[in-house]
Amino acid sequence: MPASAVQFHKKAVPPEAATLDELRVVAAKCRACPLWKNATQTVFGEGPGDAEIVFVGEQPGDREDRANRPFVGPAGQLLDRALIEAGIDRSKVYVTNAVKHFKNEKIGKVRLHKKPSEREVAACRPWLEAELKALLPRVVVALGATAARSLAGKDFRVTRERGKVFTRHPWARQFLATIHPSAILRMPSGDREAGYRDLVADLKKIPRQNHHEP
Ligand code: URA
Repeated sequence: MPASAVQFHKKAVPPEAATLDELRVVAAKCRACPLWKNATQTVFGEGPGDAEIVFVGEQPGDREDRANRPFVGPAGQLLDRALIEAGIDRSKVYVTNAVKHFKNEKIGKVRLHKKPSEREVAACRPWLEAELKALLPRVVVALGATAARSLAGKDFRVTRERGKVFTRHPWARQFLATIHPSAILRMPSGDREAGYRDLVADLKKIPRQNHHEP
């Protein structure tokens, strides 16, 4: 057995037909991949159980890992601003991540974000799937490539497909992907405003109730 395989436990098995609160409790003990070792806690999704729109990011960052809440750091603040501009009330949507532990590398005192591997994303997918089954949202929105690939397959390209509304996703009636807010924060300062405007434009394409129904 290759050394890398030793650390991956059996697939995470969320309880069948569980509520979000039940899932959160069980996910807190998840050891399906090695990421829990370097993280403070499992950062589960957050938002009302009757949310019609679910946003899925990549993984919690440093701030989220400490606060045990998704999208509360710089990327979350940018997302909040974009949601307001797009006319979407964050308190009415559910926000979660494809991977629920913060993958990081400690350099001195700083924990730097590391991109999760395909295997880590796959190990965490049962939790995302269980959240979506509990929520039955109308629209799922992937923020960035990791979430988009977890939700729509490894051939999905956010650069090519962003802002397009796809119907009949297995876990929601509509699916849409856009750029991750962190990618905007990483842009050269001269490009950031345009990147932000494009994010807002994509968010405005999220079908509102009774629009674009299949
Ligand atoms: N980036 C993400 O993808 N998710 C978070 O919760 C925070 C930053």
